[in-house]
Amino acid sequence: MNHLDQLVQQATAEFAAAADGAQLEQAKARYLGKSGSLTEQLKALGKLAAEERREAGAAINRAKGAIESSLEARRQALREAALLEQLAAEALDVTLPGRGQGTGGLHPVSRTLERIEGLFRSIGFVVADGPEIETDWHNFTALNTPANHPARSMHDTFYLEGHDDVLLRTHTSPVQVREMLAHVERYKDLDTMPELRIIVPGRVYRVDSDATHSPMFHQAEGLWIGENVSFADLKGVIADFLRKFFESEDLQVRFRPSFFPFTEPSAEIDVAFMSGALEGRWLEIAGCGMVHPNVLRFGGFDPERYTGFAFGMGPDRLTMLRYGVNDLRLFFEGDLRFLSQFK
Ligand code: FA5
Ligand code: MG
Repeated sequence: MNHLDQLVQQATAEFAAAADGAQLEQAKARYLGKSGSLTEQLKALGKLAAEERREAGAAINRAKGAIESSLEARRQALREAALLEQLAAEALDVTLPGRGQGTGGLHPVSRTLERIEGLFRSIGFVVADGPEIETDWHNFTALNTPANHPARSMHDTFYLEGHDDVLLRTHTSPVQVREMLAHVERYKDLDTMPELRIIVPGRVYRVDSDATHSPMFHQAEGLWIGENVSFADLKGVIADFLRKFFESEDLQVRFRPSFFPFTEPSAEIDVAFMSGALEGRWLEIAGCGMVHPNVLRFGGFDPERYTGFAFGMGPDRLTMLRYGVNDLRLFFEGDLRFLSQFK
């Protein structure tokens, strides 16, 4: 094998050994660069006699062409290898099953609110609502709450900065007064005025936080005013509601004497299950009572003619009981691992 053939072979071997473009360009420089082996050969041509020069020149050019084509072949091979590597890294397996559309679901507390609305609608209650940012007058004064009542303190109630008379409502009871006033206004003729029967689901706010208390929570206020509404009606409506709501006879309900400024007499309603995750644990789910005469008066009703009952229940607590959840805060953390169990 002559010298030039050896050079071509050596160059081809070095190109093949180059692992990437940079190494290949370095190898190229060793042969075809300014002081590369082949370039040196071309420079040496000048020293040869004219007739030798022609033949040697042609041989060198052939060798150069061979080196250049082997360089180009290696370049091409490296490009293809890089492309294949990229394709492998970005591969899509089109045979994988689809991920599907995530379907949403109603929040468990929203389900409870809808059930409450539905069950009360079925016995002639109308769904009403009121503002979450409420006046001190509607939230406390018109509900017969004395100026020094502890619920009015800053420890329990979120007030709006710079507005002593505006607050985040602490319960849905202010809607009682708003709706009473609107009802009397709507039916000016007392003799044809229908009974007032409303159910008021909504958000309320208190400075409160533990496993059964959240600073934002829900209440559903109920109010029934008429000419002969009694405490027995209250008990019947609540007991019937709870049996239907929980779809169970397996629960105990107790009315525990209590105090609210806006009802007299007043009671708290507790529920306990005889089986399941919360077995035997009494949980307070509502406050209730007969509407206080002063509240009827603030609402424009004559307490000599009308009586009524009211209750304010905690839909979050009802949801805990219905699904056996033992920490109320889970409902408000937005964790899909928890929430998707209710879809
Ligand atoms: C009241 O808010 C009265 N307005 C209820 C009422 C209405 C009485 C009409 C009489 C007539 P109380 O503070 O007890 O009462 O709250 C009522 C219910 O809301 C409780 O029984 C409980 O189920 C729920 N609740 C109270 N605080 C929280 C809280 N921080 N987190 C979750 N639920 C709560
Ligand atoms: Mg209470």
